[in-house]
Amino acid sequence: MGYKVAVVGATGAVGREMLRVLEQRRFPVDELVPLASARSAGQSLEFRGERLTVRALDRQSFTGVKVALFSAGGPISRDYAPTAAGAGAVVIDNTSAFRLDPQVPLVVPEVNAEAARQRPKGIIANPNCSTIQMVVALAPLHREATLRRIVVATYQAVAGAGQRAIEELSQQARAWAAGQPDPAPSVFPHPILFDCVPQIGDFRPDGDTVEERKMIDETRKILGEPTLRVSATTVRVPVMVGHSEAINLEFERPLSVARARELLSTAPGVVLVDDPAQRRYPLARQAAGTDPVYVGRVRLDASVEHGLNLWVVADNLRKGAALNAVQIAEYLAQHGEL
Ligand SMILES: NC(=O)c1ccc[n+]([C@@H]2O[C@H](COP(=O)([O-])OP(=O)(O)OC[C@H]3O[C@@H](n4cnc5c(N)ncnc54)[C@H](OP(=O)(O)O)[C@@H]3O)[C@@H](O)[C@H]2O)c1
Repeated sequence: MGYKVAVVGATGAVGREMLRVLEQRRFPVDELVPLASARSAGQSLEFRGERLTVRALDRQSFTGVKVALFSAGGPISRDYAPTAAGAGAVVIDNTSAFRLDPQVPLVVPEVNAEAARQRPKGIIANPNCSTIQMVVALAPLHREATLRRIVVATYQAVAGAGQRAIEELSQQARAWAAGQPDPAPSVFPHPILFDCVPQIGDFRPDGDTVEERKMIDETRKILGEPTLRVSATTVRVPVMVGHSEAINLEFERPLSVARARELLSTAPGVVLVDDPAQRRYPLARQAAGTDPVYVGRVRLDASVEHGLNLWVVADNLRKGAALNAVQIAEYLAQHGEL
């Protein structure tokens, strides 16, 4: 017994990963419907050894669909997610379209899986990639010692900006190797090769970028702490896949490094990689293509009361997007909600 599953944005960086994750985790799919724009209709994608033909998204795309995984940008989700939900599908949306809607749960299964069961609009939102990996690491520490403040700086891979961004970095690397001038960037505001760009998304009137604001608002919603103090600086770096984060925490109560390590080593979805003497700490290239959220460099921050520092790394296309969405679908299937 399986489900008809639609993937909206199947040809994109996240959509392709969705197909891989559904296959690898043996999610019970009876029929997979890969959807994209008219530009990609007719292309084929591989799923479980078969070639599937990509179809152009339209209002009839969701007939009989039980699970609709959306990753084709906010405007497409705003337009089509209600259509899919109206046709009886549970929508799991990777875009920012519904994340802060009070009637849409924002779910990271390791942290607040139960929230997925209350979905008045038939839509569940997947958080932003940098937020997902951060809350997976912080939730067990928060339960123990109660967070007072989070200060995070991110080092985000180009894959977070989609397939064209991966091609843009590759093209700049090829031009550099051939001794040619930088090709003009089209996805990022500046050439990304050999640089760090402290702008992800547009700037808001308060000086934060949209990405920084997402980290603040989404963290509060997932942890159920609407007034938690969060400060974020989000930076794009020339890494292909895998976001890294330097996180500084202040807690209400003392939390020793030993206890934090103990909590992290048993936390769901977390792998502790913390042996600095052996030069072992999380690295994006090692995280790419894998599922866990890796945590290392766990150490006290003596400059504040009850302070701790962490380094957190995960594959943004998997835990940051596709895997988290499929885990939500698995949770619903396990609880008889599909
Ligand atoms: N990349 C990440 O790490 C990440 C993480 C979390 C969330 N997200 C979110 O997921 C979404 C997709 O991201 P991505 O990185 O996969 O982008 P991407 O590589 O640019 O892929 C975009 C996908 O959307 C499809 N699409 C574009 N316009 C469409 C239309 N009018 N109708 C139907 N399909 C359309 C594209 O199809 P065509 O091939 O036809 O153009 C493609 O399949 C974004 O909202 C992003 O914010 C991304």
